[in-house]
Amino acid sequence: MVRIAEYEIDPEMRELRGCGAPQPPGARAFDVLATLVRAGGEIVTKEALKRGVWPATALCPSCATSLIGRQAEIDAALATLDAAQTLTITGPAGIGKTALALTIAQRLGTVAAFDTCFVELSMLKGQQELLAAIADRCGAGTDDGTAPLERIRRALAQRRSLLVLDTAEHLIDEVGSLTARIVPDNPGLRVLVTSRERLYGTHEHVMRLAPLAVPSSAASFAEALDTAAVQLFLERAQSVDKAIRIENNLIHHVAEICRRLDGNPLEIELAAARAPLFGVVELNHRLDDRMDLLTSGYRTALPRHRTLRASLDWSYHLLSTPTRRLFRRLAVFNSAFTLDAVRAVVCDKTLKDTCAMEGICELAAKSMITVECESPLVTYRLGQTLRTYALERLRCDDDATALAQRNARYLASLAHGPADSRSG
Ligand SMILES: Nc1ncnc2c1ncn2[C@@H]1O[C@H](COP(=O)(O)OP(=O)(O)OP(=O)(O)O)[C@@H](O)[C@H]1O
Ligand SMILES: [Mg+2]
Repeated sequence: MVRIAEYEIDPEMRELRGCGAPQPPGARAFDVLATLVRAGGEIVTKEALKRGVWPATALCPSCATSLIGRQAEIDAALATLDAAQTLTITGPAGIGKTALALTIAQRLGTVAAFDTCFVELSMLKGQQELLAAIADRCGAGTDDGTAPLERIRRALAQRRSLLVLDTAEHLIDEVGSLTARIVPDNPGLRVLVTSRERLYGTHEHVMRLAPLAVPSSAASFAEALDTAAVQLFLERAQSVDKAIRIENNLIHHVAEICRRLDGNPLEIELAAARAPLFGVVELNHRLDDRMDLLTSGYRTALPRHRTLRASLDWSYHLLSTPTRRLFRRLAVFNSAFTLDAVRAVVCDKTLKDTCAMEGICELAAKSMITVECESPLVTYRLGQTLRTYALERLRCDDDATALAQRNARYLASLAHGPADSRSG
């Protein structure tokens, strides 16, 4: 909550109060206000303001060039939206779903003359707020007695429209049912959703976004520079401090940072912002403390993008309670693990086998573990950052030592039994 004269502004809750009474401003007016408030008194450039308030247009026309890599994904998404009406871009926190959706929106606008209606959903709670925000953004008019859904359908049917629903994971039921109701009988409409979890709609096409390419540990200088992750790191570090020079002999530290951050663009950006302060050697060394280190996002970024911890809190708080317990405990595995390992090490009377199996499905659906099916045995993996986060939470409220001992016993038993399971 921020107070300015007799006004109180709460950007997170989207509330404005004047002289103690609520003052509901228009959605865009509020976005302008919230962007200025988040800047905490610092000058907000025109570009930053546009990025905060009109994200779809802010990146135009430069967003296509500001996106590093992702050409294959752009082409695939455009081909999908040529033939199908609904596409959901899924993937873990900060992987680049919104950035990709904005580029696709810009391309569809310029190449196929689609009108874009971009709605950021993270602050919205429930169906009513969802419908009100979409109606506001797509110019569906004010309440004339017609149901908001019908007004939205009519507004979007008047032209070739692209409705971008950004950050839908906390409203997937509402967005799924809305999409099912506005898409049929409206062939000119395309709906592009970004979400850490897919909608499970009947006609939904899904693109699971992979991390940015990272260099292998054997990559040469030129090969490292050729990867999207390293390019992003260097570009962002230089945008923080133009004078920063990363000598040739240090590039392998940048490569290692990108690998340790699993090619995740948000994490790479947060790390790059620290590079001018620590240098890449020290930054690499300090990455074990990434939760406390990666805390300097853009002031105008969404609250959940300003620190690594905030970004992961958002996913963690969307989990059911038993799955949170499972997630914390999975930190005991420092590499790929099997269901057998989960049963033997993680399950007990407070986390039954069936709950754990459901939890594994929930974590996979919400992009919090990856499923690897390369060998006949299916294995699962927590990314390095998610594991660090889970470990932090495990230490707070579960018995981490007992779990580690159970894992050690399990690994010892494997050494004497069939060698078809991996964990720890
Ligand atoms: N390919 C890319 N090139 C340049 N910058 C990128 C790229 N992908 C992502 N970014 C940047 O990384 C940050 C995180 O990306 P983005 O907001 O798109 O992630 P997200 O997957 O939508 O995250 P969330 O799950 O929190 O919504 C942003 O600042 C974005 O501009
Ligand atoms: Mg996003």
